[in-house]
Amino acid sequence: MYDFDTPAPRAGSGALKWDLRGTSFGNPEALPFWVADSDYMSPPEIGRAIREAADRCVFGYNLVTDSWRRAVAGWIKNRHDWEIDPAWIVPSTGVVWELDQIVRCFTDLGDKVLIQTPVYDPFAAVVKSSGRTLVENRLIRDGGLHYSMDFSDLERDLASGVKLMVLCSPHNPVGRVWTETEIRRVAELCEKHGALLVSDEIHWDIIMPGHRHFTAGRAGTAENVIVLSAPSKTFNVAGLKCSYAVIPSPALRRKLECWMEARHMDSGNNMGLIACEVAYTRCAKWADEQNEYLAQNAALVREYFGERLPQMGIAPLQGTYLMWLDISFTGAGSEQVCAMMNRAGAVLNDGARYGDDGFVRLNIACPRAQLLQGLPRVEEGIRRAGEKD
Ligand SMILES: Cc1ncc(COP(=O)(O)O)c(C=O)c1O
Repeated sequence: MYDFDTPAPRAGSGALKWDLRGTSFGNPEALPFWVADSDYMSPPEIGRAIREAADRCVFGYNLVTDSWRRAVAGWIKNRHDWEIDPAWIVPSTGVVWELDQIVRCFTDLGDKVLIQTPVYDPFAAVVKSSGRTLVENRLIRDGGLHYSMDFSDLERDLASGVKLMVLCSPHNPVGRVWTETEIRRVAELCEKHGALLVSDEIHWDIIMPGHRHFTAGRAGTAENVIVLSAPSKTFNVAGLKCSYAVIPSPALRRKLECWMEARHMDSGNNMGLIACEVAYTRCAKWADEQNEYLAQNAALVREYFGERLPQMGIAPLQGTYLMWLDISFTGAGSEQVCAMMNRAGAVLNDGARYGDDGFVRLNIACPRAQLLQGLPRVEEGIRRAGEKD
């Protein structure tokens, strides 16, 4: 059994999530439940491989090796049942960076790019900063906070000339693992209306029991789909800057490769490639155990708030380690609720940044003791925000 209970020594290490608590949230002692990374240590196999590489003391320019490509293809086959040619993989240093390049490479200024809100906020930022036109296809939620796609609205939007759709699968922040039927429908609609489907599947390995991720790579026609992913969420190696796109179409792939070459994008960080290869060839058991641990953390959150704040809705967590809490019953905006939580000693993400005021996002990828210490603080912040003066 791997150890997820020992906290990683992050405070004071330059960790974004920990070391901005004072300057950005006014409380250096607050427990951080915001940035989407984990607060236990990565698999020890990764640490060992990087130590061995460091001992060799060779840090010059490197290639993306065939064995790295085979490791990524093997992981995708074993975990996601998608047979790919290793040549389809276009490595990069970050999913958002590569998404930004894809939007710029495959669409023109002013073109319509569709996202499904509420969603991870850099999607909108990429569309706007590249001078494209943002089209929002809002997700629908039922009384139990189960989210689904509004397909009639989606079809209308796609028919209006959308050039590219960014899918978030599994979905951050609403925690949905889209079903095969839903993914196939999205792919069909994109194909019918000539929109390129770009599916961000960075959370694809973090799946709760009873759910199964279905990659858009198996649904779209080869000419019409790009899948983005990385080992960074699964194995908590975001700081090592290693990600990739899988592009089955030779024409699309060549176009993006030329685009990136022209911008002097090289093979990325050697340590990131090493970590990725080790993770994908030796750490499957760690990823499975992490999913079990996260499922128990999610159950604990439900139980805690079910007893203490039953009026608060919680979206069912099917995938990712990000829980979506409906704090609209307080009558306060999510900015105010977050401010109250900061004072009470917990930092969460404000739902408004994803497009839904009245919600907050709670990251549960931490040792259970940290979560247990934090939940009363989250509760106190919510209660205080709900008190009328
Ligand atoms: C859906 C999604 N895509 C991309 C990222 C960030 O990826 P990267 O650090 O590789 O740019 C995140 C991080 O939270 C995410 O949730």
